[in-house]
Amino acid sequence: MLHHGDCLKVLPALPEKSVDLVVTSPPYNLGINYRSFDDTAGRTEFLEWCKAWATELKRVLADDGSFFLNVGAAPANPLMPHQIILAFKARLEKADNGATKAAFPFAGVQLTAAPYTSVAMNGFELGPEWKMIEIRGTADRNYAPGELKVSIHLATARQTVDFGPVVVLDLGQGG
Ligand SMILES: C[S@@+](CC[C@H](N)C(=O)[O-])C[C@H]1O[C@@H](n2cnc3c(N)ncnc32)[C@H](O)[C@@H]1O
Repeated sequence: MLHHGDCLKVLPALPEKSVDLVVTSPPYNLGINYRSFDDTAGRTEFLEWCKAWATELKRVLADDGSFFLNVGAAPANPLMPHQIILAFKARLEKADNGATKAAFPFAGVQLTAAPYTSVAMNGFELGPEWKMIEIRGTADRNYAPGELKVSIHLATARQTVDFGPVVVLDLGQGG
């Protein structure tokens, strides 16, 4: 059956779990010049609108249905979170009381100022061998230069830690 109309009017009229396949390419809110649709909503208004149609799609989609979503974004206006990896090589050179392993509670990428929110954070463990540590997270938006910092907390005991290169990778947007 073919329905032609505003998805927010058509979808609520469909029974729940009655659709096997959704393929959708909603507007990206990037100021594209459509014939009638205004593609310049505020971010909050746009996300609220996305939530409204996504909720209806979830309702009408069968439990074993399929969902294909095409979204667009610009670096200055990301829609999906950026996948971030903090990676560094390190080893425990010397630990307290001859221990050969040590646990460190925090390494991450976080705001440089209060409230110091993390976009990636985890604990890690080191032994005497060089080890590559990867801390993964997501950045919900673009951050200005200097707004984020890498922070690795070491002060759990009297110990010496060697570090190799430390890098932060932005894998871009992904689900
Ligand atoms: C990114 S474009 C996708 C174009 C589509 N793939 C095509 O080939 O025509 C987004 C489209 O969604 C339409 N649109 C905007 N609001 C809508 C709504 N509430 N219900 C249905 N379509 C809508 C716009 O008019 C625009 O044509």
